[in-house]
Amino acid sequence: MESMRIDPGFDDLKQLIVQRRSLNCDHYKDGYLRRRFAVRMRARGVSGYDDYVRLLRSDPIEYDELMRDLTINVTQFFRDEAVFKALEDEVLPLLIYQKVSRGESSIRIWSAGCSSGEEPYSVSILMKELLGEEFERFSLSIVASDIDAEVLESAKEGRYLPRQVVNVPKPYLERYFTLDDGLYQLSPPIMEMVHFRNIDLFTATAGSHFDLILCRNVVIYFTREMQERLYMKFYRSLRDGGYLVMGNTETLVGEAATLLTPTHTRERIYQKR
Ligand SMILES: C[S@@+](CC[C@H](N)C(=O)[O-])C[C@H]1O[C@@H](n2cnc3c(N)ncnc32)[C@H](O)[C@@H]1O
Repeated sequence: MESMRIDPGFDDLKQLIVQRRSLNCDHYKDGYLRRRFAVRMRARGVSGYDDYVRLLRSDPIEYDELMRDLTINVTQFFRDEAVFKALEDEVLPLLIYQKVSRGESSIRIWSAGCSSGEEPYSVSILMKELLGEEFERFSLSIVASDIDAEVLESAKEGRYLPRQVVNVPKPYLERYFTLDDGLYQLSPPIMEMVHFRNIDLFTATAGSHFDLILCRNVVIYFTREMQERLYMKFYRSLRDGGYLVMGNTETLVGEAATLLTPTHTRERIYQKR
């Protein structure tokens, strides 16, 4: 098994990252780490882990490059059409209906591993659309978290290149973006709902009583044990009736799989009942 391979250089490198950047690499799959380390080692012309450890000690700026490579930030607005259609047509309208019938006005959403903001802003656009004139009556909060400080800074700007907005349906592009100097700037009401926070999912949480948690295309790089712990963390962070939305290639594992019920199997949407 790959994780059992004895390789002191590899372990030293992981330890160094824990010490210097407080990121516990043991929670990432070994194969994933080896591929990411190889990218940086090739870039710096270094062939062994020991040499790369020496390089990191003598050139601390390399930590920034390595951290940038460790967090794969690929994302899109409305990533996976069927998932966002299920949210727009079924999950979110039902959530709003339940809030109205209970006389509640607070809606709490968490996008965990939000990268440059496309995911939480897509949800923000849907909520604005669905609430319509009722929007002002609701207190809506979308916590958007990531471990990568750099992507969070760009997310807060809410400015995107034309190729980054290709998936945004045309009416939403016209309603919620303005073209400014070749970049698409999101409008203030959409941005104001979203609160960006730097959270390491291995160690921290965004809070509790969430109505909806999206954690998509993040845990695929985590060990099975970490995935199980994380799904239980999400379970505890949801209020009764709240939803968890996972990535299309991700599978709910561990105890959480017995506690959360699928509402949309193909779209990987689950509910805490
Ligand atoms: C591929 S992006 C997913 C973005 C978005 N959820 C989507 O599906 O389009 C994965 C994100 O997970 C973040 N990430 C990786 N490890 C993390 C950790 N331990 N804690 C929090 N975020 C992490 C990365 O920084 C990256 O932005």
